[in-house]
Amino acid sequence: MDIALDLGTANARLRINDQENAIDEPSVIAFNKENNEILAYGRDAYEMLGKTSARIDVVFPLEGSVIAESGLVEELVNIFLSEVCTSRVVMPRVVACIPGEITEVEKRAIVGAISSFGVRRVLLIEAAKAAAFGTGLDIMSPHGAMVVDMGAGTIDAAVMSLGGMAVSKTVKIAGNAMDEEIIKYIRRQHGLIIGKAMARNCKESIGCVLDPDEKSVFRAKGRDSLRGLPRAVEVNAVEIAECFSDITNTIVNTVIDVLEDTPPELLGDIHTDGIVLTGGLAQMRGMAELIEKETGIFVRVARDPADSVVAGCFKATRFIEEAEAQRANLNPLMTVY
Ligand SMILES: Nc1ncnc2c1ncn2[C@@H]1O[C@H](COP(=O)(O)OP(=O)(O)OP(=O)(O)O)[C@@H](O)[C@H]1O
Ligand SMILES: [Mg+2]
Repeated sequence: MDIALDLGTANARLRINDQENAIDEPSVIAFNKENNEILAYGRDAYEMLGKTSARIDVVFPLEGSVIAESGLVEELVNIFLSEVCTSRVVMPRVVACIPGEITEVEKRAIVGAISSFGVRRVLLIEAAKAAAFGTGLDIMSPHGAMVVDMGAGTIDAAVMSLGGMAVSKTVKIAGNAMDEEIIKYIRRQHGLIIGKAMARNCKESIGCVLDPDEKSVFRAKGRDSLRGLPRAVEVNAVEIAECFSDITNTIVNTVIDVLEDTPPELLGDIHTDGIVLTGGLAQMRGMAELIEKETGIFVRVARDPADSVVAGCFKATRFIEEAEAQRANLNPLMTVY
């Protein structure tokens, strides 16, 4: 059995066929701090965010797409893998994604967490490459393809050719950082303390990075910072766009940096074919238009952008034998562990 695993900062997605996700849940876990008992995971744990007693902790154990809390990542991986592996007779092979820039220690931690379940083989593929593969771009030929995968914890921008990464850049500022900016802004400007889930809701409802509309509003509910009582305020898309302008600049500059480092021949291909955006944050209003405006290159959002990476990991399972045959890790597509 072959499993594709996209263990993201915000969401975990698993596939065992190329049609649909077998698991698509927030990568969050709730546990009792007194006895370490796991109380909930995924969607159920997300519902508990900010609503628990002091005894219970609700944790997203991945940060910037790498492991921040190893024990909890292991728990989460084991829960998800056991949901899809009904038979334990044949151990699965797992293709999992990693950010473009990652240390060897971080890679080993991910391999370790997956291996703890008991797998036959772990193969790692860079998220942007998986995303390109997943959206149907031809990354095996001598032709440049550019993808920017934008999630909750990382922005991965890369140019690929001949199955490998020609240029890539990872920044650990993405959707979560925007949520933080919304929390800070609403507290500073309106004296209202809101939770993470409310901030994320606000971003997904009215977030817009190009030509925001003042008439687009969101009612944020929280606690008055002085009186401690419940209160609500209305914020509009112009205010919200303003509060994540630094992050938007970082995203645009990351794309420009990659383009500047791209060899001229590959750049020509990108100029013809355009840039593809994947990941949940690619759905933000104005994102594709903004990058197109700033780079002068055609930009489009992939179909089902949040699923591109896991779809690519699954497509890569077809090449596992080939990768295994080249154990010295010469395979450009993925690394065998
Ligand atoms: N319509 C939307 N508008 C704006 N942001 C959105 C929208 N839909 C999802 N997002 C954001 O996309 C992010 C989640 O994307 P995704 O599932 O690709 O992340 P991830 O893979 O878990 O994270 P990473 O790849 O960084 O580790 C969240 O920050 C979420 O709020
Ligand atoms: Mg991701």
